[in-house]
Amino acid sequence: MSGARTLAPFGRRLAEVTAVERIGAYALLCALDADGPADPAPGQFYMVAAAERWGAGADERPFLPRAFSFARAWPRPGGGAALDFLMEDVGPGTERLIALGEGEGLWLTGPLGIGFAEPEHGRPLLVGGGIGVAPLLCWQDRLGRDAEVLVGFRSAQHAEAAGLFAGEPRLATDDGSAGRHGLVTDLLAEELDTDARATVYACGPPAMLEAVRVLCAGRSVPCQLALESGMACGYGACFGCVVPTREGYVRLCVDGPVLAGAALEVVA
Ligand SMILES: Cc1cc2nc3c(=O)[nH]c(=O)nc-3n(C[C@H](O)[C@H](O)[C@H](O)COP(=O)(O)OP(=O)(O)OC[C@H]3O[C@@H](n4cnc5c(N)ncnc54)[C@H](O)[C@@H]3O)c2cc1C
Ligand code: FES
Repeated sequence: MSGARTLAPFGRRLAEVTAVERIGAYALLCALDADGPADPAPGQFYMVAAAERWGAGADERPFLPRAFSFARAWPRPGGGAALDFLMEDVGPGTERLIALGEGEGLWLTGPLGIGFAEPEHGRPLLVGGGIGVAPLLCWQDRLGRDAEVLVGFRSAQHAEAAGLFAGEPRLATDDGSAGRHGLVTDLLAEELDTDARATVYACGPPAMLEAVRVLCAGRSVPCQLALESGMACGYGACFGCVVPTREGYVRLCVDGPVLAGAALEVVA
């Protein structure tokens, strides 16, 4: 597997927030990255921080930037790109970013890491769980609207994000309030039982990714998993993001975040 990588310019740069839109339980943060690359590779991520009030309080230390996959990117005629980030408010960083308004500043470093690779065999099947749908949006944009999408969410409110995909993604929810009552991996098992000639691309919580890895391994279906780990720097310096693979530890920020399922013993 050889994933795509667009190199980031050195250092962080200031982007401008153009909108923050509510999508059910999530928020879409849109920014103009005028000085960044126009063509980040789907699956890559940015380290993101608000330019103002990025910290616990006036007398306290600032936060580290947080890692976010870009959900969509459009090249701008004058250079750079318009970027969308899909976010879930899970802590102080995301709370602050989602509260930003039009015209406010956003520090960006990126795009970082290695993204998805072209399908190795058969049709692409995109499998997203919760906020993990974010990098699959731009991957579907790249593959074409016919690329099949399976998504799972906690509830109908979270499932509003399914509407961001082209076409009609197959949907499951934990509580049955929208789509099938069950897990997105139930939908994946059905798809692979019908036709196992596929390359699976997945992003979501670790338990979901481990279930995807096991389903694919049992059917000899190649899969590419967009993983997460805590990231302090995002460019290989701190070793805070290491994950075990069959070949030893790798830094997820430079060797991932997309890894081949076959490279992993388990997704922990
Ligand atoms: C490559 C990559 C891409 C990401 N893309 C997105 C995205 O598109 N949208 C999005 O909403 N989030 C994304 N994340 C996750 C996001 O970076 C974290 O949730 C971030 O820490 C949130 O900051 P916070 O200050 O709001 O919450 P924090 O206070 O940092 O964390 C809130 C809670 O989440 C836990 N947590 C934090 N980071 C992680 C992690 N990486 N894995 C598991 N648990 C964690 C903490 O332990 C805590 O319980 C991504 C992470 C990575 C590594
Ligand atoms: S986040 Fe620092 S080495 Fe990966």
